[in-house]
Formats: sequence, structure tokens, C-alpha cells
Amino acid sequence: MSRVTVAQSAGFCFGVRRAVDLAEREAAKHQTLYSYGEIIHNTHETRRLEKLGVRTAECTADIPDGAAVLIRAHGVTRAVYETLEAKGCTVYDATCPFVAKIHRIVEAESKAGRRIIILGSKNHPEVLGIAGWCQNAAIYESSEQLLQALDELGLPPETPVSVVGQTTLNRASWNISVKILKKRYTNCKIFDTICNATDERQTEARSLAGRSDCMVVIGDKKSSNTKRLYEISASLCPHVLHIEDATELGTSDIEALRGLTVGITAGASTPAWIIKEVSNMMSAETRIETNEDFAAMLEES
Ligand code: F3S
Repeated sequence: MSRVTVAQSAGFCFGVRRAVDLAEREAAKHQTLYSYGEIIHNTHETRRLEKLGVRTAECTADIPDGAAVLIRAHGVTRAVYETLEAKGCTVYDATCPFVAKIHRIVEAESKAGRRIIILGSKNHPEVLGIAGWCQNAAIYESSEQLLQALDELGLPPETPVSVVGQTTLNRASWNISVKILKKRYTNCKIFDTICNATDERQTEARSLAGRSDCMVVIGDKKSSNTKRLYEISASLCPHVLHIEDATELGTSDIEALRGLTVGITAGASTPAWIIKEVSNMMSAETRIETNEDFAAMLEES
């Protein structure tokens, strides 16, 4: 058996918990509750919610007039709200308050005539949603890309620029990008919008990876924040596995970890029951350095 420590911050964050709770509550009241995009980036959890009557819609055209619609934690553009209103839909808004705050920032800064720069993954729903609350946002995925692209953008140094980041951005990458932008633009306003839950998870992953022989990062392959946890772990620990659930752990993986210290962390959209299955497969003696969801689940078992 391995010595397993589960990160205290592993699993659902406040925004995801809130969205899932709202989905369960409203699904019980409506025959079908449409979710604009997958509620969270976790296939297992999405399937569980489908069984409760939550149907994923890829775009507003998939949603019938007058339907009940849940806006997920990632948020959406202003145009989506307008379309749903025009269709007479009842909207249940689970946009994470930290994301909604970014919408308000970019809307106000853009109205004030400032250029908006968003640091984040340009195809991620959260970033697409943020870009939909302002005019002509420039989006950069990394400090390297930012450095290359600023010349092409061709803005004079005195251009008023306001900068926000995807809530799950890697803190180190954000810090480098901010330095570059401050040097380039003399009138640059920085809004640090990285979520505390992200900071907390990344800091703990760093600490756990630094003292473990192996790290197991659990979360959907589509989940941005899980990918960041993987990158951080891989930079500090020689042996890192990224799995979506316990079925991806082979017998040889578990054998290879025998007698080693294993750290487990999980993305903000990974349910506690998946974390529990993984830790149980590895050890009967999991240390309870866990979040509330997971601790409660261990007590129940
Ligand atoms: Fe919200 Fe932060 Fe989670 S922005 S959805 S609490 S990672």
C-alpha cells in the first residue's frame, strides 16, 4: 500500500458546488432543465445530472421558447441573456459571482474607452463569456504569446489598457504577463481576477508535489484548472498521473506506487465520490487532509 494524502482543497469549489446545487433544485421542479453548455467540465457529473432531467444545449437554437434554462458557473455573453429573454425562457443564473464580477469590470472599462486585454484560454467558455461583455477584447493564452503578439496589436504605449485574467489562470504566468504589460503601456490598469479557490489549489498542489514521490491529479481532460494542477505538479514531482476517474488506474500503476508517498489533488469540477474511489484504490489509510465534501463522504463510508 502507498501512503496517500489528499489535498484539502481537492474537488468542488464554491462556484461549482453552487451551480450543481441550483441544477439539482431546479431540475426537481421542471420536467426538463436546459443547461447552456455542460454545467461543469466533468463528464461523470454531467451524466448524473442528465438522469435528474438536466439537458445540455450547445447553443440558444437548441433551447425551445419558454424553457427553463440554467446558466453555468463559467457564465455567458450578454447576447446569450438577450436571446434567452427574447425566447421567453426562465433563466436560473449559476454564473460564479467571481466571474460575474469580471463581466462588470470589462463592461465598465470598455464603456470608459479603454482597450481590454484578457489573459486566458481563448476557446474556454469563461473567456468567451467575458469577451462578450466588452468591445474588441484581445485574448492571450500565455506570456510567450503575449510578448509576440503585442507588436502585431500595434497599440501606442499611452493607450488606456485594462487587463483581466481567467479565474483559473496559473499565478506564475499571470505575474509574468502583468510585468510585460506594465512595461509596455504607461496607462495600464490591472484587475487581478484569479480566484482564491484557484490560488489555494495551486499553492497546495505545489506543496504536496514537493513532498510526494508521485502525484495523482484527478479531473476531466477538458478542465482548465485541472490542467494547471497537472502542470504545477509535473514541474515539481517526477511522477505525475492525470486521470479522470479510478478506472484509468491500472493494476501496474498501483503496483508501481507501492510503498511510495502519493499526493492526490483534483480540479474544481471533480466530485468527491471520484476522489474517494481513487484514494481507496491506492490505500486503506488515506490521510484526511480533505475538503468538506470529501471528509463528509469518508465519514459516511
Ligand atoms: Fe468560481 Fe473560482 Fe470556482 S471563479 S467557479 S469559485 S474556481
